Amino acid sequence: MTPIRHLYLHIPFCLRACPYCSFYKEVGSLRKTPRFLDALLAELDGQLARHAVRPRTIFLGGGTPSALSTPQLERLLSGLRERLDLGELTEWTMEMNPATVSPEKARTLRALGVNRISMGVQAWDDALLRVLGRVHTAAQAERSYHVLREAGFENVNLDLMFAIPTQTRAQWAATLEKTFALGPEHVSAYCLTYEEDTDFFRRFQAGEYRQDKEWDADLFEMTLDRLAAAGFESYEISNHARPGRECLHNLAYWEGADYLGLGPSAFSTRGTERWENVADAEAYTARVLAGESAAGFRETLDESTRLSERIAFGLRTNRGVPAALLGPWQAAVDEYLDAGFFTRAASPEGERIRLTRQGVLVADALAEAFV
Ligand SMILES: C[S@@+](CC[C@H](N)C(=O)[O-])C[C@H]1O[C@@H](n2cnc3c(N)ncnc32)[C@H](O)[C@@H]1O
Ligand code: SF4
Repeated sequence: MTPIRHLYLHIPFCLRACPYCSFYKEVGSLRKTPRFLDALLAELDGQLARHAVRPRTIFLGGGTPSALSTPQLERLLSGLRERLDLGELTEWTMEMNPATVSPEKARTLRALGVNRISMGVQAWDDALLRVLGRVHTAAQAERSYHVLREAGFENVNLDLMFAIPTQTRAQWAATLEKTFALGPEHVSAYCLTYEEDTDFFRRFQAGEYRQDKEWDADLFEMTLDRLAAAGFESYEISNHARPGRECLHNLAYWEGADYLGLGPSAFSTRGTERWENVADAEAYTARVLAGESAAGFRETLDESTRLSERIAFGLRTNRGVPAALLGPWQAAVDEYLDAGFFTRAASPEGERIRLTRQGVLVADALAEAFV
């Protein structure tokens, strides 16, 4: 059986809950982490007994994986190294919050094999960071960036957000320029979304915060123009990289590769099987340590669901999707080609369909035609 090549671990701890964020996380639960780490490694042992796993990419996400202490990270990463064949590993990413970066932690991570850091900066502006309820200042994020460089990280992503309440066009332009001056290899620039069950969503519903699609689109277009001028390739709607620095882990997701997700709320896909672990650290830990499955939900994907997903993800990338996959929806494809949302591109494997700049602005609506 072909091995699973992509491994994700969800570390659901944060120093503070940001009021816009709907990722599964817990605040102030770090005292539970020793058992939690036991559970993560035990879940990996259980999965290794069932599946061949030889990762090319590993991604530690959250939550805030860097909220773990250096000894805890040492234990987790050493545990992964002991259990996995890392002979083919090319990319090992860890998400970090700027408030949790220290020289010692950064050096330890680098020494244990992490070679890519994704740090959540959001804005180089203290007033906006306060609106976002972030736990760090802009100066702290800048110091952390340099600490990562000094520890030897040569592949760094910075997460940024735009369309933040009160943010002006000039503030967003300044955040982009400051980012370019620092010179990361990769930038993820997300348009703020008002996610259900967040404080921002409640304020949005109460009319305190507003969303203006045209404003969002205007900022997005400016983002693409400035990133391109600074030498970044926009290889997915929110993801921009210097040539050759695309995130291989995310590319694998978008191309429909199998992946194994460990930890609470993590998804896994293996062939037509998909499962999601329970989104509760306590229940997750108890189940795994009792030898039970962590999965709270399982489904068998039919061919048409897999195809629709592959098209929806593929259209978000600059590679697009093979035209041959879109056969069943030829009428919609022709309509979008005529309307200027789609374009044809030649590739060695045959014709592909990609979004135009105009199409990128309405990507989610277009993808609905292929469900
Ligand atoms: C798991 S967090 C990154 C690491 C770390 N927890 C942090 O925040 O510094 C992933 C990224 O998702 C983005 N994000 C989270 N909630 C969002 C939202 N509602 N709208 C847009 N982007 C969001 C932020 O840019 C954040 O850095
Ligand atoms: S944005 Fe990051 S730090 Fe903030 S709550 Fe979400 S996962 Fe935690």
